[in-house]
Amino acid sequence: MATKTSGISAGKIADNLATDFIGKKFYYFDKVTSTFDEADKLIPEDGTVVCAKTQTNGRGRLGRSWQSDTGGIYFSLILKNRFSKEKLQLMTAVCALGVWKALLEYTECKIKWPNDIISENGMKLCGILTKLRTQNGYSEYINAGIGINANTTEFPPELRYASSLKLICGHEIDENDVLCKVLEFTEKYLAMKEAELIEEYERACVTLGNRVRVIYADGENEFSGICKSMNPDGSLNIQKDDGSLLTVNSGEVSVRGVYGENYV
Ligand code: BTN
Repeated sequence: MATKTSGISAGKIADNLATDFIGKKFYYFDKVTSTFDEADKLIPEDGTVVCAKTQTNGRGRLGRSWQSDTGGIYFSLILKNRFSKEKLQLMTAVCALGVWKALLEYTECKIKWPNDIISENGMKLCGILTKLRTQNGYSEYINAGIGINANTTEFPPELRYASSLKLICGHEIDENDVLCKVLEFTEKYLAMKEAELIEEYERACVTLGNRVRVIYADGENEFSGICKSMNPDGSLNIQKDDGSLLTVNSGEVSVRGVYGENYV
């Protein structure tokens, strides 16, 4: 399912990127197993970006794979841990906000907690998987793996709720522009205080204020309710149908209207 695109050019990124440190070290590969694997081979420098045209073993959340043919933007962003515990807990939110703000320049979109970016009609445009790398028990750096459906035009049948910027906008998208914007906005959000980040996230997130269904990772337990707010650690407060409040920080949270969910 290869899509023909002009793709990423390390030269264009170097010429156009307006950041202080993110992406100043930029590695670009035609084919990798996963940008996670490639980034693990490097000495982690703050702000390094490892990007690939294709991945043969792209990884997604909850043990899923991530389709990584040409047309998508696949990269890992390394952020050395110099953060407070509170800020560290919000790193996925920081990256989701960076992508959301960048994609808004192409189409109306929202964040689906914790880290999907979805189009106005509830289709997935981006996924983020954040890994914390530790050394001697200390959290050394974050590897934020980000996959953006930029120019992808075909998805396998099981990904029926996936779409791309190209499919939505009706024309090819310059992947270099998208990536530069994502890195620039991410750097801006990184500098924000925790309280501001949570406010901005709540504005951007489709999950907040909506009816949701929580399906735990074991696949056995689930419940429905209204998502009320996000906590400083990035978890969600959900009011269950029986009125009780519950905090959710793992598992799957489905939102009515997103990915074909239409429960009441
Ligand atoms: C998700 O399941 O929604 C998260 C998908 C994350 C995909 C990206 S692509 C770049 C990086 N390398 C990987 O193998 N996965 C992440």
